Amino acid sequence: VNMASPSILPANVLLSRRVQEMVINGEEPESLYICRDEKEDEDVPSPLAPIPIIDLSLFSSSTLSTKREEELQKLKSALCSWGCFQCHMNTVRYQEIRDAVTDSANEYVKIRQPYYFLIKSTEMEAIGHGIPSSFLDEIRQVTTEFFEQPMDEKKKYSKGVEDVQGYGGDPTPEEGQFLDWQDRLFLTSYPEYLRDTKFWPESPKSFRNVLEYYTTKMRMVTELVSKSMAKSLQLEENCFLNQFGERAALQVRFNYYPCCQKPEIVLGLKPHADGTGYTIILQDDVEGLQVLKEEHWFTVPTIPNALLVLMGDQMEIMTNGMFKSPVHRVVTNKEKERTSIAVFYTPEKHKEIGPEDGLVNEERPRLFKKVKDYDITHWEYYQRGRRALHTAEI
Ligand code: SIN
Ligand code: FE2
Repeated sequence: VNMASPSILPANVLLSRRVQEMVINGEEPESLYICRDEKEDEDVPSPLAPIPIIDLSLFSSSTLSTKREEELQKLKSALCSWGCFQCHMNTVRYQEIRDAVTDSANEYVKIRQPYYFLIKSTEMEAIGHGIPSSFLDEIRQVTTEFFEQPMDEKKKYSKGVEDVQGYGGDPTPEEGQFLDWQDRLFLTSYPEYLRDTKFWPESPKSFRNVLEYYTTKMRMVTELVSKSMAKSLQLEENCFLNQFGERAALQVRFNYYPCCQKPEIVLGLKPHADGTGYTIILQDDVEGLQVLKEEHWFTVPTIPNALLVLMGDQMEIMTNGMFKSPVHRVVTNKEKERTSIAVFYTPEKHKEIGPEDGLVNEERPRLFKKVKDYDITHWEYYQRGRRALHTAEI
């Protein structure tokens, strides 16, 4: 990637501008958003990534052990090569459960929490990632509705210079850095005492409830995924959960990528790897997310009702480099806007994490030092290269 050196606008100007607003005003992306020369455009379209699709429901103890082992192997191989996998809901089993509990569920329908009863943790393993497709539609819907509102409404939740949470765009770029063609709403949703509800939209009306509910679902998914990953590596099932700690954080980023008239030279999100433990992404039906593998970009397929689970650096560290934290980016699109919801799952504040002892041996010496409050910005990745950053940890 060749970076232009854009002129820097004052922080207050940048902070108050939204990409969506520029598009509505018919403004062309200015130099700050240009990531490469048109000439250098990679004109070969990126192929679809054959990322494995995992049925999380197979990890339940009721599954035949050979079938379960097979799925765990598939999970491990996905994470050792791509660093990510998609998981989806087994709708057949969901239907079975729904039929069994219809009466009690009806009461919840009335109060707009129709799924509470259905997806108790005991049942969750029986239905893939455990989140009904109608609820995934609902959170996608409130996300779209939020971004469709007038700018004045959204700006009630704008973040200030010092804020991490809130509505905004890319932070002020450092010299030589370009900006993402993206607006976002970033909220900490767990643990509850870290929530800052002044940034939680009151409109659309159901936004807060939907986010609250999504948070409980994400906690279940992270528990199941963390345990399954440990089992796939023949480790004690709680080892990663213990490293994450009881107050491991969930931060939710609602992303909005408007159409862009110069998709060849403007990115929705610049290449980076996540500094998280791992990240759970819900896409809409517009492709845009790409992962880098062996120096090639691959487009992540959009699968209805699937969640993409993508490793961050801290899982790479905990697995002593077995699981890859892939570099990824988002491309822009001339005709279609795109939204996505990314949930960042990160170890509890001030908790030290490091490679699992069971994954350090003669063949695979310790690759990483223990780290605490690991926080790497996109810019640091650019400047120093992520490999260099990682080995610097030893
Ligand atoms: C990301 O969070 O890195 C990308 C999320 C998306 O698919 O838009
Ligand atoms: Fe990311």
